[in-house]
Amino acid sequence: MDKPELYRDLAEQLAALLAHEADRIANAANTASLIYHGLPDLNWAGFYFRHGAELVLGPFQGKPACVRIPIGKGVCGIAAARGEVVLVPDVHAFPGHIACDPDSRSELVVPLVENGSVCGVLDLDSPLPLRFDDIDRQGCERLAELFLAHSR
Ligand code: SME
Repeated sequence: MDKPELYRDLAEQLAALLAHEADRIANAANTASLIYHGLPDLNWAGFYFRHGAELVLGPFQGKPACVRIPIGKGVCGIAAARGEVVLVPDVHAFPGHIACDPDSRSELVVPLVENGSVCGVLDLDSPLPLRFDDIDRQGCERLAELFLAHSR
């Protein structure tokens, strides 16, 4: 399966998983699990949700992670502040990176935008540098959209 096909397949699986459930925590947990087990070469996949001026850890797969990230700090906080995807090819070359798992070498963070404001982020980490490209960005944006469309 090539990468676009893999993301199409994951989007179909996710739509089916979320179809009859609207609970945000339950859907975030299943979304994180589907991504972590469905995409190769990840060491962390999960959510942070916005509470005021901070992002607070949500459901994830991977090693325990930092619980609170100020908006504007770290890769996650920067993605949340800008409301834009942040793709970091090499976390060692990204000054603001917050190292939760020292194995992480590259990172992709997709903001969750609901009614024009950021309510959280979807964060993927890889132990490989240069793991994420534009296909991953588009694929993960689609998965984040599906998550938001099905969750209250
Ligand atoms: N590296 C992130 C912190 C979250 S962990 O990767 C799970 C950051 O810089 O925001």
